[in-house]
Amino acid sequence: EATTTVDLSKVDKGQRITVMWQGKPVWVVRRTDEMLETLEDPEVTGQLKDPDSQQSEQPEFAANEFRSREPEWLVMIAICTHLGCIPSYHPESGGNFWSGAWKGGFFCPCHGSGYDLAGRVMEGSPAPLNMAVPYYEFLSDSELRIG
Ligand code: FES
Repeated sequence: EATTTVDLSKVDKGQRITVMWQGKPVWVVRRTDEMLETLEDPEVTGQLKDPDSQQSEQPEFAANEFRSREPEWLVMIAICTHLGCIPSYHPESGGNFWSGAWKGGFFCPCHGSGYDLAGRVMEGSPAPLNMAVPYYEFLSDSELRIG
């Protein structure tokens, strides 16, 4: 299918769901205010390979620090830009997934790449790029169309 429609009404704050679009897994994450604050935290942004998403694949509307049309909603292809594994989701910092200033995000278990809560890759990761954002539109407050 060229497009995938997602019902957003059942996605709680902080929750991440996975949908399929053109045979690929896509995450839809409803970020909390606390999660969004981490994206502007200099401790985090200072450790990103490409904080302004100049190298990565995303529509023009997502070339910002939130990498999204609306800060609350992150829509992203769930594929590590190193060799294509699916990272795990860590909405809060803590644990041994990543060192230093990591304040939550995504961690790829295959070779240990870390991403922030906008899918921006951390320095020291084998992954070269931020994760890709597909084209999408909001059809209403509760409906999203990917593609
Ligand atoms: Fe993700 Fe290698 S595939 S770190």
